[in-house]
Amino acid sequence: AIQRTLALIKPDAVNRATEIEKTIGEEGFTIVERRTVKLNKSEAEQFYEEHTGKPFFESLIEYMTAGEVLAFILSREEAVAHWRKVLGPTKVSVARQDAPSSLRARFGDPDNDSHNGTHGSDAVASAQREIKFFFPDLTLDAALTGE
Ligand code: CMP
Repeated sequence: AIQRTLALIKPDAVNRATEIEKTIGEEGFTIVERRTVKLNKSEAEQFYEEHTGKPFFESLIEYMTAGEVLAFILSREEAVAHWRKVLGPTKVSVARQDAPSSLRARFGDPDNDSHNGTHGSDAVASAQREIKFFFPDLTLDAALTGE
């Protein structure tokens, strides 16, 4: 089925946005909406609330608030799973080993697994939550189905 997912280009990869957007197009995604957003601490904590208390949480919040992020709603057949595949493994070191052509292998920081440059929703339910988080002004139907 056609789905929508939330993609982020994180602060340290914003300077590579042109290359990342080229891959987005080559992988068959349509960019439905895009925004440039500077997250504050409490917004970043809310976005990543499922990771609260994890050992990497504080550094993740620092990373995600270090500069502007680019947020996209992407549409495609099986968009959620396909975008995750295009991203590659979460950890840049693993991505470089196992999926060298993935976005995280190409644009993540090999010295810091947290600094993986890009994000994608991990399930349809999280895509719905994350799209609403970054695009609160869209009606739910517009955000989720394009209708
Ligand atoms: P992301 O897909 O945006 O979701 C959670 C983020 O936490 C992840 O990408 C990384 O930037 C960061 N992170 C750092 N260490 C880990 C880890 N061990 N497991 C998962 N995420 C991590």
